[in-house]
Amino acid sequence: MSTRVKGNRRSFSQLFRGDSSPESNNEAVEYDFPDASNKAVPSPFRFQIDHDNLLSELGAKYQPSKRHHNYLIYYWKHFRDIRLQVERVLEIGVQTDRCLKMWEEFFPNATIYGADIDPLCKAFEGDRRKVFIGDQGDHQFCRSLVSAAGGAFDIIIDDGSHLVEHQIKSFNWLFPALTDHGIYVMEDTGGAVGDVELKTISSLRKLVDNIMYWPEDYRPEDWGYLSEFDDAASWADHNIIGASFYRWIAFVMRGNNPGDNAFLHKKT
Ligand SMILES: C[S@@+](CC[C@H](N)C(=O)[O-])C[C@H]1O[C@@H](n2cnc3c(N)ncnc32)[C@H](O)[C@@H]1O
Repeated sequence: MSTRVKGNRRSFSQLFRGDSSPESNNEAVEYDFPDASNKAVPSPFRFQIDHDNLLSELGAKYQPSKRHHNYLIYYWKHFRDIRLQVERVLEIGVQTDRCLKMWEEFFPNATIYGADIDPLCKAFEGDRRKVFIGDQGDHQFCRSLVSAAGGAFDIIIDDGSHLVEHQIKSFNWLFPALTDHGIYVMEDTGGAVGDVELKTISSLRKLVDNIMYWPEDYRPEDWGYLSEFDDAASWADHNIIGASFYRWIAFVMRGNNPGDNAFLHKKT
């Protein structure tokens, strides 16, 4: 628990300079589950996500491409509880009006912003749907999105070019453009789009070190009282509270690390 991860991290700029220095001395163990059997005991519940839900109904109605990739069950799992509160959604990659309209109906109080390199996508604006035309690999364009939308986004979905470089850059530029408990989703990571080395996922995996940040001199036995970090903590240490990885899709949660833990004990 008290392992310090700082100093072993490779920065965004190092990644793009091609720096191949060893990133970590921590040796990871690969589980081989020696006592596992191929016959699992059936659970008293179904696969964690109910398939008969509002989002799957809207997926059937609008037929966005993400329905055909079986992603909607994961979206339902992460979005069902915040559906009515969400005010601003950004999806990079528009292509048709299908997805924008699905989100428009699913988030009844939100404006749905699309961003696409194809100028024809401007035609899909209407009602609570707005579209910005530009390249997600362009820092200026990504920067301009927040001011163009008039505020930070509660949800950002990257379903754009699916190029590793774009996925990593857009995340680096746009994750801070989330509201303080926003969610960033990256679709089509890994083999789905030919990234067989899982470069994007390998970069996202490193966020676990931010989530688990531990101040150097903090006593491990006081873990239940840790409510703030020391000055050495990075922006990412303070602002990333969780990540969920599914097959070809990842969700990263912004929050107040470690203060969001509702069960923190108070020191008397
Ligand atoms: C998979 S489609 C989006 C599908 C849509 N989100 C849905 O669920 O129905 C990908 C879109 O990304 C757009 N795109 C490709 N490269 C891009 C880039 N560099 N910046 C922004 N959009 C890009 C394409 O024009 C295309 O419309």
